[in-house]
Order: sequence, then C-alpha cells, then structure tokens
Amino acid sequence: MTVGLSSQIQAAAPPPAERERGNVYIVRRLFRDYVAGQWPTFAAALACMVVGSAASGAIPFLVNAAVKYLFVDKDPNMLALIPLAAIVLMTVRAAANYGGQTMIETVGERAITSAQRDMFDRIARQDLASLNAVHSSQFVSTMLYDATQMRDAITRGVLAVGIEALQLAAYAAAMIYMDWQLTLVALVVLPPVAWAMERIGSSLRRAAKRSMEQTGDLAATLSETLDGRRIVKAYGLEAHMTERANARLAQRLKTLLKVVRRRAAAVPTTDVFAGFVIAATMFYAGYQSHHGGLEINAFSAFLAAMLLALQPVRNLSQLWPVISSGVAAANRVFAVIDSHPTIVDSPGARAMSVASGGGAVRFEGVRFSYHEGAESIAEVTLDIPAGAKVALVGPSGAGKSTIFNLLLRFYDVDGGRILIDGQNVHDVTLQSLRRNIALVTQDAVLFDESVADNIALGNPGASRDAIERAARNAAADEFICKMPEGYDTRVGEGGLKLSGGQRQRVAIARAMLRDAPILLLDEATSALDTESERQVQEALARLMKDRTTIVIAHRLSTVLDADRIYVMDRGRVVESGTHAELIAQGGLYARLYQHDFTDDAAEGA
Ligand SMILES: Nc1ncnc2c1ncn2[C@@H]1O[C@H](COP(=O)(O)OP(=O)(O)O)[C@@H](O)[C@H]1O
Ligand SMILES: [Mg+2]
Repeated sequence: MTVGLSSQIQAAAPPPAERERGNVYIVRRLFRDYVAGQWPTFAAALACMVVGSAASGAIPFLVNAAVKYLFVDKDPNMLALIPLAAIVLMTVRAAANYGGQTMIETVGERAITSAQRDMFDRIARQDLASLNAVHSSQFVSTMLYDATQMRDAITRGVLAVGIEALQLAAYAAAMIYMDWQLTLVALVVLPPVAWAMERIGSSLRRAAKRSMEQTGDLAATLSETLDGRRIVKAYGLEAHMTERANARLAQRLKTLLKVVRRRAAAVPTTDVFAGFVIAATMFYAGYQSHHGGLEINAFSAFLAAMLLALQPVRNLSQLWPVISSGVAAANRVFAVIDSHPTIVDSPGARAMSVASGGGAVRFEGVRFSYHEGAESIAEVTLDIPAGAKVALVGPSGAGKSTIFNLLLRFYDVDGGRILIDGQNVHDVTLQSLRRNIALVTQDAVLFDESVADNIALGNPGASRDAIERAARNAAADEFICKMPEGYDTRVGEGGLKLSGGQRQRVAIARAMLRDAPILLLDEATSALDTESERQVQEALARLMKDRTTIVIAHRLSTVLDADRIYVMDRGRVVESGTHAELIAQGGLYARLYQHDFTDDAAEGA
C-alpha cells in the first residue's frame, strides 16, 4: 500500500506549533528516533516473522507430501516421519509467531515510552506563555492517547509488513510463475484500490484528529470539575457540569461513529474490488480457453492462489486506517517534542553572582505587554538596594505580579532592562537567575508527596536536619510533628490534608531552605485568617533577614515597616516613599490605606 503524500486538508486551523509534515517524513522520523535504537530486537522480530511465514507457506507442501507418500506411495517409513514433521512445523511456526509478536510489541512499547519521556521533558521546560496558550488536558491527551495510537501504527504496521505482505508476495510470485498475463489482468485493479484506501484513510485521519481534540475537551471538563469540586458542590453545579460533559460526549460520539464507519469501510471496499478482479480474470481466462490457450487445472491453480492472496490484501487494507491515524498522532507527538521555549539562555550567558545578604534589584524604564495592544507594564523604574525590604501596593490589575514574572524572566521585557547586582537578567543563565530568587505566592503549591519532600523542593538534596530547621523557622514544625507520620506524611493532592495557613508555612519552609538572596512574596498571607497570618508573618520576618525582599501586599498593615513602598496603578509607579511620607502626600496610597483602615474597623465592629 502506498503512503499518500497528498490530501493534507485540515478540518480546523492547526495550532501554531503543529505544522503539517509529509507522511513519509513522519514515518521515517518515527523509525529513526524511536525504533532504530532497538534494531537488534527489531531485526530478531523480523527474523521470527520470516520464519513464521515460511512455516505457514510450507504447510501446503506438507499436505502435498502426506498425500503423495502416505496415500499414493504408501511408504511405511514416512508414516512416523510425516506426522513428526507436522508437529515440528507447527511448533516452529507457533514459536516464531510468539517471538515475533512479543518482540515487535516490546519495540512499540519502548518506543512510546521514550517518546513520552521526550514529551514530558519538553512540556516541563516549555515557557509559561506557551503552556498557558493551550488547555493543559490537550497535553494529557497527546501524551497518553496519541502515543498509544502511534504505538499501534508501529506494531501493527510492522507485523503486517512482516506477515501479510510476505505472504502476499509469496502468492503473487506463485501467480506470476503460473501465468504472468493473467496476473497483469488481476493487477489492473490495484491502482483503484489504492486510491479508494487513500480516500478512506484521509477522511479517517481528519475524523481521528477531531476525535482527539474532543477527547482533550472531555478531559478538560473532567479535570475542571474535579479541580473545582468544592465550588461545584457549593454552587450546586453538578447538573451544569454533567450537561457540559454530556454535550461534549455527544459530539465525540458522532465523530467516533464516523471513525467506526470509515474503519469498517476498508474491508468491504476491498471485497467489492476483489469481485471485479475475479470477474476480469474469469472473463480473460474464459476468452483464452475459447481460443484454446488455457488449461482447466492451470486456471484452477491460479484462482486458488488469487483467492488465498485476497486474505492478506483484506488484512492490509484494514491496516491502512490504523497507520493513517497513527501517523496523524505521531505528528501531534512530534509537534510537542519539537516545541522550543523562547525564553532560553542568551548566547554566552554567564552564571549570575549575587552578594550574600541580598542583591540590588533595578528596573529601568521597563515596558511589557502579554498581548499586543494591552500594556500591562507601561513604564516602571524601581531601585531596590541590596538587603532592603520594599513593598509593591496598588489596586488589583496594576501590574504587581507582572513585575515578579519579569524579574524571574518568565517573560522577556518589551523595553528597558532589569538588573540584579548590575547584571541584566536577560544575559545570565536562567538556572542561576532562578536559583537566586525564592518566590512565595498566595496559593502555596504543594505536590502529593511527603511534607519533607515538599520542603526539600526548595533545595533538592538538602539533609533531613536542614529540612527540619527550615520547618522550625517557618513555624511549621509543631503541626507537622502532630501529623500521623510526621515529616513523612503525604499531604494529598495539592496539599489537601493541610489548612491554608499550614500549606503556606510549608511553602515558606521551602523558601527558607532555598536560602536565596532575593525573596519575592506575592500576597503570601492574603488568603489567611488573622491567627494564621500572625504566625506566617513571624515566619516571614525571619525569612526576610539578610535578603532583598519585595513584598506584594494586599493588606497595607503588613507593609508599614517597609524601607520603601512603591504604589502602582495601571502599569506605572505613581508614588513611592515610606509609609509616613506617602500618608503625608495624601495621594492614592493614603486613600488605599484609609480604605483598609475603615474595612478593618468594620470587621472589628
Ligand atoms: N498571563 C496573563 N496573560 C494575559 N494578561 C495577563 C496575564 N497576567 C496578567 N495579565 C494582565 O496584566 C495586567 C496586570 O496583571 P497583574 O500583574 O497580575 O496585576 P496585579 O498583580 O497587580 O493584580 C492585568 O490587566 C491582567 O489582566
Ligand atoms: Mg497579583
């Protein structure tokens, strides 16, 4: 069966990362990157298949010998030998088929495992911007389902080539040997069959692609329902979410049924064409016999070979859709593997060096927008001396968190520059930059590992002693020791088993352990109640010692002692100074503070 190079019609515009590549390229790359490295297993599998096919092909000869020696010649010596030969032949065939199938499937499983390893690596290293652009469940479906389809294409493709195609070749050789002109007549039908298979294949490919996207949507609905389970319950959204899932399931079912129909069409289509082949050869043979060319026994033998050949052709035509959708899946897999982060080390980047006791941070005329036309940072200049504690305050959406995103180089600035101890963050290695910064955010991110492991993420390889010291400094030691298995207690999905304040203190312990000279706190205590906030504040005060700290604070009461407060509004710094100076100015800060104060008073009343 030929691999179609045409018909790259797209049902929907592909996402930017997904380029359409030629099928030949995809197949070659699949073999080069994921199969070639396993060539001994692959070659052994092929050898097994050849042996297995040869053994199958020998069966008619065995039958022939049995008839000849046992019935015609009545040779007594053969009476034991031929049944023995039958046992040997069938055992060899069984062993070869077993070996061939297990080895080729081993190759397939190893191939997808290493493709998945590559995908995970790329996904983990991808830029925030690229990760945010696609729903995370699309990655899940490519990593799990597409990889499986890719494997099926490899294993079934190779099995088919190794078994069906070999058999077909044998029968074809027999046919040509018997009557090459009649064979030509039979072969006339091949081009239309190939054409029909390509049509079915390309339609199937589109449907398969759509079904993958719909699988991704479905996964998204499920994961959102589960991630948001508390809100779903609290707002009684169960029926709503189920309806959404049902709509997506219904759409997906439509596509899947289309896939089913396309897939099932292959064999009957081949059979219809086979009818034409049989008719044509009969016509030709009958015509020949009228004119005295063809013997009855020759024609019967030819017809037998042709009918035998039909089975591998049917099997091969069934295979084509599997290969087609496998190739489409491999294309998506390669799109993930080929994605490159745009935020990378600049050529010649050096490791950043920061003075112990905290680095000086400077923003010089920084401008930045996430999307064209919507400036998130219009113009910001900050000058933060080493070891200082400064605060960023301002209404929500002012651009405060964006300042952190830029300092960590999650995104590159559009204008101006950001310096840490005189070194442009753009020109140092990402690893050294991020190693020197500890970030604590409002939603402490914990992974479903032990408490100790969660803290150790701040500095992989830290000793148990260092971990416990960090926990004590973060005021987390006490509650951790009360947990059923102490530091070895698993925290559950997202830290489910801990309260907000406890999670936050684990996150602070992590930052303590990181021991970075620059500390960024993004509303680290905003989500906490007053009592946990007090405990966390104490932990934070210890953490800030001997570091440059930038605090984004929601409650202004927590930044009164800052060395300097920058007030931001709509992507600009509109005021700066100490608390007392800003109050005296009577500007935005004074108003925000007044507001806070009335809120607190209202809360207290
Ligand atoms: N990932 C993002 N993609 C697009 N726009 C964003 C993103 N994050 C923030 N913004 C926009 O940038 C502006 C500043 O956001 P942010 O820095 O988060 O504000 P703040 O932290 O001061 O509340 C807002 O208008 C927000 O909508
Ligand atoms: Mg923010």
